[in-house]
Amino acid sequence: MDEHGESNQKILLGITGGIAAYKSAELVRRLQNQSCTVKVVMTAAAEKFIGALTFQALTGEPVYHDMYQSSGDAMEHIELARWADKIIIAPASANFIAKLTHGLADDLLSTLCLAAEVPIYVAPAMNQAMWKNPATQNNISILQQRGIHFLGPDQGQQACGETGPGRLLDPQEIAAQLLTSQQSTQLTTGQRLAGKTVLITAGPTKEAIDPVRFISNHSSGKMAYALAQQALQAGANVKLISGPTSLTPPAKAELHAVESALQMHSAVMQNIQDTDIFIACAAVADYRPATVAANKIKKQADHLSIEMLRNPDILTEVCALKPKPLCIGFAAETENLLENAQKKLNAKNADLIIANAVGKNKEGVSLGFNAENNHAYIISKDHCIDLGSHSKNQLAHQLINHIAEVYEKKHTS
Ligand code: CTP
Repeated sequence: MDEHGESNQKILLGITGGIAAYKSAELVRRLQNQSCTVKVVMTAAAEKFIGALTFQALTGEPVYHDMYQSSGDAMEHIELARWADKIIIAPASANFIAKLTHGLADDLLSTLCLAAEVPIYVAPAMNQAMWKNPATQNNISILQQRGIHFLGPDQGQQACGETGPGRLLDPQEIAAQLLTSQQSTQLTTGQRLAGKTVLITAGPTKEAIDPVRFISNHSSGKMAYALAQQALQAGANVKLISGPTSLTPPAKAELHAVESALQMHSAVMQNIQDTDIFIACAAVADYRPATVAANKIKKQADHLSIEMLRNPDILTEVCALKPKPLCIGFAAETENLLENAQKKLNAKNADLIIANAVGKNKEGVSLGFNAENNHAYIISKDHCIDLGSHSKNQLAHQLINHIAEVYEKKHTS
């Protein structure tokens, strides 16, 4: 947007098949209200839900849908891709997302997306089970790694009568996010963290009781590994200090495998010196058994007490370093999420805390530990941003962008 709040951007709106296609008409209006010029491309499936005439009337332009017919110009797909400043697909069906992932070019919209060199945005809309299906989630993660931006989806009641994630984001919200993302667009597709070292702690820790037993927690490490992948994508050198997980670390990350909180603490401290950004994502055990029995403890009395000692708080220690890297912590809470997260921000002197609820959301989707999704908030001294509920890969993408932005601001001010 310019200094008058106007946008003047050339937006190519792709509409694919889905009941939410009628909402695209409002999106056209919202974009035009921001002085954007909008051209519309529809797939054959989209035209089963809403007529092209509606968009022709709204835009005052022909609606493009056929590779070979619209203007008789065989190079139309290339011209449309070159004309646009940004491409937004709204609604984007699961099928279209799959086509985009695999680079199919069997209609005008998929072909011009393949030919496009401008940022592509995708606002998905589909049934909640189709959204959650690993096939769709994998496609999304691949597209995000390619720098394609996802706007939404929203949660709630769906046209099919089911409830969950998969509703098209509100057109007003799509327009707002699309038009304000100029800066991050340029930077995400580029190497926003090039030359920076990001150190990430991951997974649970295991605190040994005896040679065969330990105390641990349900952390899967998925969020941290997704963050590592996104930081690599943004050009960073990534050091991953990871407790035991069943995940394969990203090939380009420097992995330091640890078991206990004490080992994690010492691996972090040995590697912190060249670190620009520290992300404490591990679920570090707060306590460890005071002694580790040399042999397997045999059952005896009805009660067994284990004396526990406090582990060092790694995030607090890193935040106290002078100079300190940009420090980001996590707060996984089962109650009073924002209040507890704010307390952690202050107590640990972190720059940001990512707060996420552990348990189930209103739709019954598992969140947090060992779940596919997280509902996250970014909390700093000045703001609290609700990122909504997304797959961990999507959240990681948003978080790395936000972290890069905070880092840039800190180092240019
Ligand atoms: N953390 C850490 N070292 C610890 C404990 C926690 O680095 N020994 C980090 C975590 O990686 C996370 C943040 O501190 O980024 C908050 O962790 P959390 O377990 O939510 O909170 P605690 O500080 O342990 O407090 P509590 O258990 O009382 O909620």
